[in-house]
Amino acid sequence: MGVSEYINFASEEWVLDLKSRSVLLVLSEAEMTNARLDAVDMPQQMLLSTLNPDAEIPAEQIAQASLILLEIKPELPGSLQRFEAMRQLHPDMPVIAAIRNADLPLVRTLLKKGVRDVVGLPLSHAELAAIVNEVCEQLDARVAKDVHQGQLISVLKSIGGVGATTVATHLASELAERNIGRGVCLIDLDLQFGNAAAYLGLSAQLSIADLIAAGARIDGELLKSVVSKGDNGLNIIAAPIDIVPIESVNPDQIMRIIELARAEYDHVVLDLPTNWTNWTLSLVAASEAIFLVAELSVASLRQAKRQLQLLDSQNIAGAHINVIANRVEKRFFRAIDLDSAAQALGHPIELSIHNDYPLVRAAHDQGVLIRAIRAKSKIARDIENLLARLGVETER
Ligand SMILES: Nc1ncnc2c1ncn2[C@@H]1O[C@H](COP(=O)(O)OP(=O)(O)OP(=O)(O)O)[C@@H](O)[C@H]1O
Ligand SMILES: [Mg+2]
Repeated sequence: MGVSEYINFASEEWVLDLKSRSVLLVLSEAEMTNARLDAVDMPQQMLLSTLNPDAEIPAEQIAQASLILLEIKPELPGSLQRFEAMRQLHPDMPVIAAIRNADLPLVRTLLKKGVRDVVGLPLSHAELAAIVNEVCEQLDARVAKDVHQGQLISVLKSIGGVGATTVATHLASELAERNIGRGVCLIDLDLQFGNAAAYLGLSAQLSIADLIAAGARIDGELLKSVVSKGDNGLNIIAAPIDIVPIESVNPDQIMRIIELARAEYDHVVLDLPTNWTNWTLSLVAASEAIFLVAELSVASLRQAKRQLQLLDSQNIAGAHINVIANRVEKRFFRAIDLDSAAQALGHPIELSIHNDYPLVRAAHDQGVLIRAIRAKSKIARDIENLLARLGVETER
């Protein structure tokens, strides 16, 4: 391409409408020079990275981008590998491949591998602008179509065994009972010890592990295929049958699963493990409502306080964190006891659930809801009271 062409393109055809997106351009030094990008008015969100066609792209550069234009040199094996490795790690990242002398079979292969589009090298300014604008438009259209985002609700526990799964299963069931829209999904993310499905009498063959293993192939259909159905229409994604090391899970994949679930259902309830990992924190940060289940024991309150402090240190704080005092004895069911516990905790305790071990135990053993054992119980009413925190009306 001659210099005169740049001059022509520079003024008229360089209209880039990136909105809030940032585009990362990854080109070798030679192609960067050929592209003469210094001749055009570069929007701020256009990030340039000069790298050999097979050199690894630094993670922090990828993290900044919402679209990547990536040079691929098919004759260099490491170049295609670089692209594939990036697809694996960031399956949702839109990629435009930039290639020299692209032939049809290669273009077809790349499209099959998930690139959004292909642009020829040396890069022409007009073509670059046109293709980037087009992909941005496609992405905007997709976002507009997927506006539905179900409410994300996280159930946490101060320490193991305080009743988080009992709360999560019953809360999700109460929501499902009342829902007349897209339904409710309970996802058991207690990957090592999850037993939510068992509490509901289900022995799921498929689990969250199948969604984690599906990598980039995951979509709404696949998500629905691993769902087990509870009696009242509740959808449950069970914990794996085998223990999964929680830190081995790819955080991006978990986020993708949750986003898909939110697109499918009106409420997504998460039963989370006691141990924190970066992905559990991200999920809690993304939640509209958080329930932290604790008991009124010194040990449980101390741990609950530590959990709240950790959330606070991650800038997760505020009124959407609801502490639930579980297994509260009738004689303690007075404001004063909850008040002093709240003071010790440094957070209000506005929700509590009565203690009734024989009833809860019977429900779990039989794999049914508490309601099925006893139609009217204090615990059932206490759990119904949680719905107001989610903006869901109850009849009473
Ligand atoms: N309100 C309640 N009254 C009496 N017993 C209860 C109550 N809630 C839960 N339990 C009992 O507490 C035990 C633990 O409950 P659950 O499995 O829901 O807790 P968890 O916090 O999810 O525990 P884990 O750490 O194992 O995941 C169960 O035996 C259950 O029967
Ligand atoms: Mg549990």
